[in-house]
Amino acid sequence: MIKGVFTAENSAISQYIKLIRLWDGIDYVTQDLCITSLADEEEHRRNFMGYPAVYETLMEHRTIASCCS
Ligand SMILES: [Fe+2]
Repeated sequence: MIKGVFTAENSAISQYIKLIRLWDGIDYVTQDLCITSLADEEEHRRNFMGYPAVYETLMEHRTIASCCS
């Protein structure tokens, strides 16, 4: 699931980059909306960056707890 989130965020980011380039010089309001959305998606991706390490740690603790209880 975590990899799926990264894939989705990266896909959204690349689409917004394409839209930003597409609207350059044509529609600055739409381009600005896309820039804002791009920033949101980049923030989402940054927020998820720590999840794999947290997940690994949780799985290690779970393995230790199940083998030693
Ligand atoms: Fe997102």
